[in-house]
Formats: sequence, structure tokens, C-alpha cells
Amino acid sequence: MTRSAKAASATMWGKRDDMIVREDLPFNAEPPASVLAAAVITPVDTFYSRNHGPFPDIAPREWRLTVGGSVDAPLNLTYDDLTTKFAQHCVVATLACAGNRRAELLRVHPIPGKDPWEHGAISTAEWCGVRLVDVLAAAGVRREDELHVEFLAPDVAQEARPVQSYGSSIPLNKAMSEEVLLAWQMNGQPLPRAHGGPVRVVVPGYIGARSVKWVTAITVQPAPSQNYFQAIDYRILPPEADADAVAEGEGISLSSLPLNCDILVPTDGERVSAGALTVRGWAIAGDGHSVERVDVSLDGGHSWRQADLRPAASRWAWSRWSLTVDVEPGPLSITARAWADTGVTQPESPASLWNPRGYGNNAWAHITASAI
Ligand code: MTE
Repeated sequence: MTRSAKAASATMWGKRDDMIVREDLPFNAEPPASVLAAAVITPVDTFYSRNHGPFPDIAPREWRLTVGGSVDAPLNLTYDDLTTKFAQHCVVATLACAGNRRAELLRVHPIPGKDPWEHGAISTAEWCGVRLVDVLAAAGVRREDELHVEFLAPDVAQEARPVQSYGSSIPLNKAMSEEVLLAWQMNGQPLPRAHGGPVRVVVPGYIGARSVKWVTAITVQPAPSQNYFQAIDYRILPPEADADAVAEGEGISLSSLPLNCDILVPTDGERVSAGALTVRGWAIAGDGHSVERVDVSLDGGHSWRQADLRPAASRWAWSRWSLTVDVEPGPLSITARAWADTGVTQPESPASLWNPRGYGNNAWAHITASAI
């Protein structure tokens, strides 16, 4: 695709024309790192878009949601039912794709057929809708341990084996947590089609893949979803596994986001002015944990300085950090690592994390630049 074709496909879906379009159909795009750095709440036109199939086109009046399985009173809800019969709640939450920062894993070893997401498959929005727990309660959910809640959508993924529409699941315990929403608004606007409008699931603290867009069916069931994107994809496989030949249920299923951080400014390869340089980025601890500290190193991790860490907008949002350093003319190597409230920090190298589908890269963030 040419640069102008990429810009056209981005603007067609309401995105900035400088989005880095990874695929046209299904549409996959991330904002440049420096643009992502500009705001705590990512504007809709800048928010990354990650899709496995073409967007369904569902008018709110046509949308229906079934809620069934291990419930005493199955529901069949219209958009009006959902938006008027339940209390409305909003959550500021960061969505991060499990493949964010895959480009660094690709430099360790190739990962055929997977998009080389760089710094931008992560964004933060204010989501408004109803709490999933309220809808499950209205359906008379049986509160038994070990149950799972499956979400299905109508978008068909040609890459799935066999070809099927998108689906996923989360444990019932997480589904009953107040932060999990069925959302129809993003940053105060009706949820755009590219982000799952008219209604999507938002599972704060979990990998983005669990926040199913265009959701039309919810089932409470004894086991995780058998959908390709739960049972086969979005799993950490051992390095020697053949990703095209693994059986259902193999590998580690991804749910909570790992502790992670990234450097957004300066960008990789940028030429900056010598003197005062403000390094900026984000950090997140995953599933409601907090980031307690971010360290920055200009010498490959031999010595560290603490960054200024701003309070997160919510328990479910990234924390933004910055540090102003004085740089001499010449090459620059900048590294960052975050520490969580549990006392853990990030692993040092992407090589130690390499896996055949390129998920979950939470190694120390690292960029090189030069000062002139
Ligand atoms: N839901 C459906 N129906 N289809 C999809 O392809 N992609 C998932 C998730 N929900 C997907 C989906 C993935 S992998 C991610 S990271 C997030 O949506 C991305 O959400 P966004 O496109 O709004 O940023």
C-alpha cells in the first residue's frame, strides 16, 4: 500500500492521516509514538485499532444482545433496553494489545505473518455504558466459582482455524467486577464503528483481546470459550512450538496485562538538540495494580534515575512519566523500567521473552537517538 492509500484508509475510519497502518483489511493501525505521548486520554482519531475481520455495520436499532447459559432468566436486550434500564457508569481505562511492542521481539527472531506493532498498540479512553455485573444480575447469573463468561461478535476472521467470528471469554469473577463495562460511549461520543459500536465489552486490566467489540451474545459457561481467539490464539507458546500446529488449549492463556512501560519521546532514531531533553512515556501495572516507580537509564542500565511519575487517571489507566536530562552531543541510549506495588519490575531483555506469536513483550523499554 502506498503512503496516500494508507492515509486514505486511516481517514475512512475516522483516524488521523499519519496513523501507521499495518493492514488495510482487516484494518489495523497505530499512532506514531510522539502523537500518543500528547495526551492522557487518547483522542478517538488517534486510538489504535486492532481487528481480525471486517467491521460489522450494526445500527443501534438493529442491535440485539442475548445473555444466556448458566443464568436463571436469559435476556434478549435491545439497545434501548441496555441504555435505559441499567445505571450508567464510566471508567477511564487503557486498552493494550498483547502484540504491542512486538517489533522488538521480531528483531530477536522472525515471527512470520504477525504485524510488527511498535509503540502504539495501546491507548486510553473514557468508556461509558453499563456494568456487566448489573446485566448478569438481571439475567439471574448463578454465582458459582470456576464459571466463565463468553462474548461473541459477528465479525468473521479469515485467519482463524476454522474460519469463524470473533469471540473470547473472561472468568466470572472478573466479569462481576465493577470496572467491566458494556460500553456504548468512548470519550463522550457514541462508540465509533471501528471501536465496536454500537456496543462493546471493556475489560480494564486485561489484554485488549478480551474487550470484544460489536458484542451480540454473552454466555455464562463452565469453561473458557472454545473460540479460536481464546483456545488457540492469544497464548504464550514455548519458543520451540510451531504456532501453526498447536492444539486447542496449548500454551499460557493471556488475561491480566503484565507490568510494562514504554518510551514515547524521543522516538527511536530521532535527532534531538543537545542540552535539556525531556524523556516521556507511560507505565502500567495490570489488573488494578499501581506503578510505584519508573527508572530511566542513559547507560544501558548501569545507573538509574527516578522519573517524575504522574498519578494515573484511574486504577485502570496508564501512568505517565517524564524525566528531564542533560545530554551531550553524540549517540543516546535510553532505557526505562517500571516497578509495581507488588515489588516486581520488568525483565531486562526481549530475547528472554521471545515466543512464536510475539505476545506480552514487557522487557525494559529501550530506544536509541542522537543529540546534535
Ligand atoms: N473484538 C472483535 N469483535 N473483533 C476483533 O478483531 N480485536 C480485539 C479486541 N476486540 C477484536 C475485538 C483486540 S486483539 C484488541 S487489542 C482490541 O479489540 C482493540 O480494540 P480497539 O480496536 O478498539 O483499539
